[in-house]
Amino acid sequence: MAVKSLLAFLALATTAHSKWIVPGARWYDTEGNIFNAHAGGLAIDRDTGRFFWFGEHKTKEDPEGGGVSVYSSDDLATWTSHGLALTPEDGHEFISPESIIQRPKVQYSDVDQKYHMWWHADDSKYSLLLQGHATSDNISGPYVFDKAVAPLGNWSQDFGLFTDYKDGRSYALYSNGDSVQGRDNYLTRFNEALTDLEDVVYTWPKFDLEAPTIIQTERSYYALMSHKTGYRPNNVVAFRADSLEGPWSQPFFVSPAYTRTFSTQSGFSWRINGTKQTTYLYMADQWDGNSIWESRNVWLPMDIDDDKGKLEVKWHDIYDLDVKTGEWEPVEGKEYPAAEAKTIGGAYLQEANFATLSKIATGIYGNDSKITFEVDGQGDDQWVSFYHQSKQLLLIISERPTHRTCPDIDDMGFGDQPMGAPDRINGTWQLRRVSSVVVNDNEDQVHTLYQKDTHKGIILSTALKLPLNKGKNTITVGGLSNGVNIKGADLDKIVVYPPEPRQPPKC
Ligand SMILES: *[C@@H]1O[C@H](CO)[C@@H](O)[C@H](O)[C@H]1NC(C)=O
Ligand SMILES: *[C@@H]1O[C@H](CO)[C@@H](O)[C@H](O)[C@H]1NC(C)=O
Ligand SMILES: *[C@@H]1O[C@H](CO)[C@@H](O)[C@H](O)[C@H]1NC(C)=O
Ligand SMILES: *[C@@H]1O[C@H](CO)[C@@H](O)[C@H](O)[C@H]1NC(C)=O
Ligand SMILES: *[C@@H]1O[C@H](CO)[C@@H](O)[C@H](O)[C@H]1NC(C)=O
Repeated sequence: MAVKSLLAFLALATTAHSKWIVPGARWYDTEGNIFNAHAGGLAIDRDTGRFFWFGEHKTKEDPEGGGVSVYSSDDLATWTSHGLALTPEDGHEFISPESIIQRPKVQYSDVDQKYHMWWHADDSKYSLLLQGHATSDNISGPYVFDKAVAPLGNWSQDFGLFTDYKDGRSYALYSNGDSVQGRDNYLTRFNEALTDLEDVVYTWPKFDLEAPTIIQTERSYYALMSHKTGYRPNNVVAFRADSLEGPWSQPFFVSPAYTRTFSTQSGFSWRINGTKQTTYLYMADQWDGNSIWESRNVWLPMDIDDDKGKLEVKWHDIYDLDVKTGEWEPVEGKEYPAAEAKTIGGAYLQEANFATLSKIATGIYGNDSKITFEVDGQGDDQWVSFYHQSKQLLLIISERPTHRTCPDIDDMGFGDQPMGAPDRINGTWQLRRVSSVVVNDNEDQVHTLYQKDTHKGIILSTALKLPLNKGKNTITVGGLSNGVNIKGADLDKIVVYPPEPRQPPKC
């Protein structure tokens, strides 16, 4: 290798970006900014074949009307920002910063050779329930607002768009709102120009679901939707059919019960017709109700068995996807059980028959009650997954009176709580814990680990990229404020992953 190309290689190697997909972690674009595109959808550039992802641009100041951001990628893992595809306009009736601009989807039409963007257009009280439409000659925009309409005269809340790969026709998916007259879910065909809806193909009556998407296999259609629990996750369900007109099956869960679909809400899905295999991706949102602009994207492979009519979303901390071949595989890491780590202060190990080695670390709180893992590192930035359960029961507080705060009953499991709300025991919805993560006692660099609330006995994970030394390292976890208190979630284990392979330079 010539010196020059070696230098070029090293320069690229140090700035190389993730090729792995890490669901629920903070994602960054190629400029190092946070990936800010929620409840989005994917489209393909006709000229280049490149992927473009459109989503809600959420900021602290403007969580719902921040416009539509757009990113492009060749591998679904490395994303380049193209700014806003649809920019809010002050004083505009439908796309002002005060408007609701949600769940944008883009599709190309041969009729006018334009890209068409559709979304849920509304006012801040959700009283309009319309579908917005904008077009652009260029996939990345800027999109020019056309209209906001009532689909075939009805209402439209959460919006989805599905294109049948067999005949190229596109369909709008939407719930017709929360009113007693509404609560239906619609599957409605677009005209070929993608400028209007043509006719209702199917209605799921009174299911009262939202966040719809359809994934198509060679033989089936699966419609995925979530229940309506606001920004709290729930059990996403799917229906199966041979044809879009139905009959559709009964709904079924797409992931293990009580995981609340790994703390996600459905919204989009994608079929990769690879040269070696077909892969189906579930492309969901992991909402953060406390700070909605910090919500995460969770993309996971789905296992589909058309013979059994089954679809399952499978959790992986990290996986390596080849969009050309369609092949993917989970990345293997090394496990460190909490049962073998060192607890400090009021943190301690408690019997938990659902946990690794039947013990879970609990009582993690602020700076004085922590847990320290000793792990092997490879002298690089490495992903580390933290497996947690976010339930701390009253019992723990009385057993260990270290922290006499208000009894922390969380939300009692979104559905197991008395009268459907946590008020009876003066609880509040707590959608996440925040833990502090410190590597090798470097207190100057406190990594914040957001841990979604879980049901009792359910263990979920979230990954953080941490700088590890070659050889032994310590990883210490304490509690930070989640707005209510400074408890960290209970920890089951951590998993340390190898450094990502450097991307070869593009010549
Ligand atoms: C279309 O978008 C690409 C990518 O952002 C940009 O390079 C190009 O200049 C745009 N073309 C037009 C006609 O706006
Ligand atoms: C929407 O459809 C429902 C039935 O699905 C009907 O009761 C309602 O009146 C319709 N709303 C409008 C605005 O047409
Ligand atoms: C899948 O891709 C191949 C090319 O790799 C193409 O020949 C085939 O028609 C595609 N199949 C479908 C169902 O899209
Ligand atoms: C923990 O310590 C840091 C500094 O060491 C401090 O900034 C922070 O407020 C402390 N957090 C809590 C919850 O006590
Ligand atoms: C809840 O709060 C109310 C009003 O502050 C109080 O009267 C009641 O005793 C509290 N209940 C519990 C279970 O703490």
